[in-house]
Amino acid sequence: MDSNKQPNYTLLTIGLDRQVLTWLREELSTVNIEALSTAQAFEEVLELEDVDNYINFVITGPFVQQIDGDELAQGIRLTFPQCRLLMIATSRVDLEINSLKKNGASEVYIYPGDKGLLDVELDKIVASLGKDPGLTRYRPVQLIDIAAGDELPFDMSVFLPLNNKYVKMVKAGSEVREKQFNKLTEKSVGQVYINSQEMDQFYNYCAEKLADAADPNSAIPETERMAQLQTTTRDLFTSIFDTTESADFSVGQQIMDQSQKIVDKYLEKKTGNSFHEQIAGLLGKTTDTYSHASNVSALACLLSMATGVGKPEDLAIAGLFHDMALVDFPIPEHEPTPEFIEKLDDQNKKIYMEHPLNAVRVLKTKRMAVTETVAKIIEQHHERADGKGFPKQLNSAKISMEAQLLAIADQVDYLAQRKASRKRYNLQEAIEHLADSGAYSFELIGKIKKAILTG
Ligand SMILES: [Fe+2]
Ligand SMILES: [Fe+2]
Repeated sequence: MDSNKQPNYTLLTIGLDRQVLTWLREELSTVNIEALSTAQAFEEVLELEDVDNYINFVITGPFVQQIDGDELAQGIRLTFPQCRLLMIATSRVDLEINSLKKNGASEVYIYPGDKGLLDVELDKIVASLGKDPGLTRYRPVQLIDIAAGDELPFDMSVFLPLNNKYVKMVKAGSEVREKQFNKLTEKSVGQVYINSQEMDQFYNYCAEKLADAADPNSAIPETERMAQLQTTTRDLFTSIFDTTESADFSVGQQIMDQSQKIVDKYLEKKTGNSFHEQIAGLLGKTTDTYSHASNVSALACLLSMATGVGKPEDLAIAGLFHDMALVDFPIPEHEPTPEFIEKLDDQNKKIYMEHPLNAVRVLKTKRMAVTETVAKIIEQHHERADGKGFPKQLNSAKISMEAQLLAIADQVDYLAQRKASRKRYNLQEAIEHLADSGAYSFELIGKIKKAILTG
C-alpha cells in the first residue's frame, strides 16, 4: 500500500446477529464498519477488486440467509486470503465449528459467552490500525490496591459523562498524587479505565501487588498485610458478584476475566510456568470446561489469599485441572448437585464419580507434575464434610482444608451462573447456601464470611 496515502480502513462484517453488531459498533466506535446482511451483498463483495481498503479482519455470523456457513467461509477465504476471519454465533445449535475452521474460519466464537476472548480479538483489530490515539479502546478495570505515592506502569483514565470523553488522570511511569487518589476514592469517580493495549502491564502490576500482599515473608507487618489482602480480594469479589439491578452481568464477567489474567500472572511469577496455556492446550479455549476451570482457579486462589488457607498457587493450579477428566462428558452444562448425579445413567454416573481421581491420572500420563498437595485437592474436590461426597465418602477430618476451599469455589462458580431453572446467586447468597448445606467445614465458611462479605 502507498505509504503516503492515509488509509481509510473499513471493517467488513457479513450476516452478524443484530445484538453482536450493536456491541461491535460500541466497542469499535472509531472504526468504520460496513455491515452486510444479505446474500446479494455478499456476492458483490466476492467480486470486489480493490480489497486493500478493508482491514485484515472479516467478521461474520455463521449463516447468511441461504448461504451455508462453510460456503461463506470458503468465499471469504478466497477473496481475502490473508484475513483473520472471525465467525460469531449466538448459539451453539447447528454450529459445526471444526468444519467452519476447515473451510477458512480463523476462529469461531459464541456471543456473549466468549466476550472475553472476543475482546482480545478487537484489541488486535485496533492494534492493526497503528498508534493513532483516536483509536484507543478503554477497558474499565477494578483497581487493586492503588494508593497515593504508587507508581503506575500504565496510563489511567477516567470517563467524564458530561463531556462524553476519557481523560488521562495518571500518566504511565508517574506517581499517583494524594489529591488524585482522594478523587479516585470518591464515589463520583469510582470507575477507572485503561488503554486496552496496556492491559498486560495492568495485569502484571496487580499480580505483583497481590504477590507482595500474599507473601508471608514480606516486610509489611502481618496484621497490616492481611488487612490489605482482604480489602483487595473483597473488592474483587464484590465487583465480580455485583448483582444489583444497575450492574450489568458483563461487568462482573469482565472483572472475572481480569482476575483470571492476574491470577495467571501471579502463578507465572510463583512457579515460572503458564499453567493456563497448558490447560488451554488440553481443553481448548472456547469450551465450557475451560471457562469453568479458569473461573474456579481464580476464585479459589483469591479465596486462599483472603482467608490464609492453603497456598494461593496450589489452589489456582488445582482449580485449572480439577475437572479436566470431564472434557468429553456428554452433558456439558451440568451442575453437580446430588439430584443431578442421581439422574445419571450407570455409564455416565461412573465417569462422573471417578472424574476427580481420573483428573490426577490424566495429569500423570501427560507427565504434568503437580505436587501431592495439588493432587489431593483435585481428588477431594467433591468430598463433603458430612460424608455424602464422592468418590471416597471421606468424613470432614479426612478432607483437606484446601480441597474444601476448592469445592466452595467450584460451587460458587456454578451458583453464579445464570440458569433457566433458578436465579443467579450473588456471593453472599451463594455462601449462605453452601453454609446451610452442611457440606463444608463450619470454620472455613466462617473464615470466608469474615474475609470477603462486607455486610
Ligand atoms: Fe468436579
Ligand atoms: Fe467443577
